[in-house]
Amino acid sequence: YKQLKAFPKDFLWGSASAAYQVEGAWNEDGKGPSVWDEFVKIPGKTFKGTNGELAVDHYHRYKEDIALMKEQGLKAYRFSIAWTRIFPNGRGEINQAGLDFYINLVDELIANGIEPLVTLYHWDLPQALQDEYMGWESRQVIDDFVNYATVLFETFRGKVKYWISLNEQNIFIQLGYLMAVHPPAVVDPKRMYEANHIANLANASVIKKFHEMDMPGQIGPSFAYTPNYSFDSNPLNVLAAEDTEDIMANFWLDVYAWGEYPIFAMNYLKEQGVAPTIEPGDMALLKEGKPDFLGVNYYQTATHVFNPLNGVGMGKMNTSGKKGSSEETGMPGVSKKVANPFIDRTNWDWEIDPQGLRIALRRMTSRYRMPILITENGLGEYDKITETNEIHDDYRINYLSSHVKAIQEAITDGVTVLGYCTWSYTDLLSWLNGYQKRYGFVYVDQDETQNGSLTRYKKDSYYWYQNVIATNGEEL
Ligand code: BG6
Repeated sequence: YKQLKAFPKDFLWGSASAAYQVEGAWNEDGKGPSVWDEFVKIPGKTFKGTNGELAVDHYHRYKEDIALMKEQGLKAYRFSIAWTRIFPNGRGEINQAGLDFYINLVDELIANGIEPLVTLYHWDLPQALQDEYMGWESRQVIDDFVNYATVLFETFRGKVKYWISLNEQNIFIQLGYLMAVHPPAVVDPKRMYEANHIANLANASVIKKFHEMDMPGQIGPSFAYTPNYSFDSNPLNVLAAEDTEDIMANFWLDVYAWGEYPIFAMNYLKEQGVAPTIEPGDMALLKEGKPDFLGVNYYQTATHVFNPLNGVGMGKMNTSGKKGSSEETGMPGVSKKVANPFIDRTNWDWEIDPQGLRIALRRMTSRYRMPILITENGLGEYDKITETNEIHDDYRINYLSSHVKAIQEAITDGVTVLGYCTWSYTDLLSWLNGYQKRYGFVYVDQDETQNGSLTRYKKDSYYWYQNVIATNGEEL
């Protein structure tokens, strides 16, 4: 291979988390309930009924967690703010105690030389707004989201330089309104695309506000990008993959970057009778909310063949942790997902494809020519702790190191990458998979019964990443 370019000197070697998955303290210091606090109470919705009431208690242990980051040499920490700590009912009076938690967190990070990357929304909508006007299904949420974000912009002006608007809009919308495995647990494509359009408007409005306030720093959304491949060179399968790319990826990315819906995807929605209602002024607003960078969460690719009109529809995801237990899934008339024979899969059937990350970065660069911040990438696996409290997660080191190498290749190809956040820093609550599926550099003694000691232990991958950071990516 040609000579690889070095990582930029100021590359943000980071790691990430989300409020609901780490904080716990679900009703402390005036916090209001979010849709996740309520959703997990429905029997059978999460693995063994796990919830985030305690999570890994980051709310009380953030100093200990930041000390571990500092020791590791971490340059950036991405976390999300819980809307319900700032506005327990979604709007109204600011809950100062909730805001203080994040002020302390940001100060502690900065004092330790770690760049805070703040996600405004990582799925925990105030339940009050869901009850009052059905959350993302009402345009009222746009003003409420901007109002909430404005408080954070004012509070952290100059301190926080990187902001992520919505985390994985494509995931929370599809899992919430099509697959019914996230709140509000609906199966209704029409409602899904309406809610999605409103989320687009909210996203654009917050970005527009950020720029109007002349905030120092940069803002962008985080998209869960699964690049789509054709199974082979059969033109029908190639078209199936391209249609899937339009419906499952460009449908969000084009809106973020260009303020436009892709032509083929929009036609497909119209044919299905599920296209969103676009009001006068909407498209202009989408164009005005242009982000400064595109955030990408990359885990895997998907390989497709053509799927006839009477073919398979949406299948269930593998939440069991047993390899091969995913159901067949597809879009009738468009594509069906098949196993890629060239790559291996995790125990949850997520395809392990480092070159897919390079492909993702290159496709995004070709189409949009914007800087990219990798806001998530990681391996969810079973981890075992030895009697001497070691965790030998060489499989995670292999995963991460091959993905970092792919980033370096993409940078060499000409992609601008601002930074790389692994998912996740400490182990945390997987929304649907409890604590059996772990992602962290730091092992947390916590299980589905919530009876763990919550003690933190460094995994082998912790030391591996420490060296990657120290050598600025030269030693992988
Ligand atoms: C991303 C989310 O979809 O993937 C994270 O932004 C999530 O919040 C991560 O935890 C891994 O997903 P899972 O289902 O394996 O926990």
